[in-house]
Amino acid sequence: MAVDVDLGARSYTVHFQSLASVPELLSRASSGRSPGRCLLVSDENVAAHYRSPLVQGLRDAGWTVRPVVLPPGESTKSASHLHTLYDEALEWGIDRDTPVLALGGGVVGDLAGFAAATLLRGVPLVQLPTSLLAQVDASVGGKTAINHATGKNLIGAFYQPALVCADPATLDTLPMREYTSGMAEVVKHALIQAPALFAHLEAHLVPVMTRTDRAVVADVIERAVQVKADVVSADEREEGRRAILNFGHTFAHALERAAGYGAFTHGEAVALGMRAGLYLSHRRHPQALDRDRLDHVVDAIPIPGRPEDVAFEDLYAAMASDKKNRGDTIRFVLLRALGEAYVTDDVSEEEARRAWAYACAS
Ligand code: GLY
Repeated sequence: MAVDVDLGARSYTVHFQSLASVPELLSRASSGRSPGRCLLVSDENVAAHYRSPLVQGLRDAGWTVRPVVLPPGESTKSASHLHTLYDEALEWGIDRDTPVLALGGGVVGDLAGFAAATLLRGVPLVQLPTSLLAQVDASVGGKTAINHATGKNLIGAFYQPALVCADPATLDTLPMREYTSGMAEVVKHALIQAPALFAHLEAHLVPVMTRTDRAVVADVIERAVQVKADVVSADEREEGRRAILNFGHTFAHALERAAGYGAFTHGEAVALGMRAGLYLSHRRHPQALDRDRLDHVVDAIPIPGRPEDVAFEDLYAAMASDKKNRGDTIRFVLLRALGEAYVTDDVSEEEARRAWAYACAS
């Protein structure tokens, strides 16, 4: 099973295979060059499960591996941990062919990705995503970044990986809350561009959300990655179409910021944001959108916590300062029908307030 991201000279494949196949995939992607050094970046949680067999497999295939294990959590996406990677790589003496392998969730992928983009002006990046969020979204499309005191992902680069290997078995060790949160991005991909995937999710909602049918989950993930690959292939640097991947994210980023990072997972915030987005979409296109049907799937993502405790004024202020805005307007992604998303700034503060009240009432 595989999905291709079609970007000319920067094209690559997302493989859905065991991590045991990484040495072989790596040798194929490095067009026959003999194995040399590679830097393997992970966090403490992921390393405990997956690092040793991967390191062993790479060494058996002739690679000299330097593992770097970082603390887990969003605060690792910092300039100081980026410098740790620079020091590890440069003091060891990497060259331009030395791959950086990012084994972990979005934090490891974004940080190691930015290190790979900037070390020696770019070394090969291999994304080995182990969270659902990273498998269906963050590892595909080349967004890499670290955070700054003034906001998330403010320092970064578009830098495509040389290959992605998403091992479905790694989802088994994911805490349930992280798993269902990751499903928010899957639902988003279905809503913005894949009516057939949406119908499939609808038909298998319980096994998908409870992780009880591996084959169904694997199929859903591959189809969600296909959406991401298609969107990125059409607009690598978010000059147009790629912005639709931000459906639900105007509210979501604002909630994460206004509630304090960590109060809600990114996926939970996206699920709430999608409810608000569906409210706004339905007001504009009532004939084309069956809101109850769409809400039903979004509502399958559990939301612990009380989003209604965040004052709308704080939420709106955070929305107004989002880096994705252009000029003074706030950009929203809405649907004109299931699978047809577009970007607009034509939403008043009062309407956003009503949409948010609707989202919180779920
Ligand atoms: N996660 C949004 C994007 O990759 O564009």
